[in-house]
Amino acid sequence: HVGCEHGVCGCCTVLIDNHPTLACLTLAHSAAGHMITTIEGVAQGGVLHPLQEAFLEVGAVQCGYCTPGMILTAKALLDEEPEPSEEQIRQALAGNLCRCTGYQAIIDAVKLASKRLLAGQDTGLETSPPPRWHDLSSRPPER
Ligand code: FES
Repeated sequence: HVGCEHGVCGCCTVLIDNHPTLACLTLAHSAAGHMITTIEGVAQGGVLHPLQEAFLEVGAVQCGYCTPGMILTAKALLDEEPEPSEEQIRQALAGNLCRCTGYQAIIDAVKLASKRLLAGQDTGLETSPPPRWHDLSSRPPER
């Protein structure tokens, strides 16, 4: 989404062919024929991605403005390096600014998601995620 519009904040990050890319500096025609992933494409079948779950669980979301870019950048990292060090996480997210969290909760969320994704690969968790309150398909109706 719209952030600084100058390539500074990382809020507009999308994945183009799974590489974090600043949408504000990318001409539309240069993306033609490439696979573009936005935050809306990360959850599958109404179930949040483990990164989205982890961000909620550890409080890595405050105002939420940076969150889509953070999650997409972290997703690209975990897709390439499933068990990154804290230094690798910090380096990957260096282009995504957050004015609220102080970053530690974000780092913790990426580590938690990494552990869950690795465990899911071993246990089949990815194909049958446990129901959670933020499973969008099983959320209780609003009153
Ligand atoms: Fe507010 Fe990151 S949660 S900018």
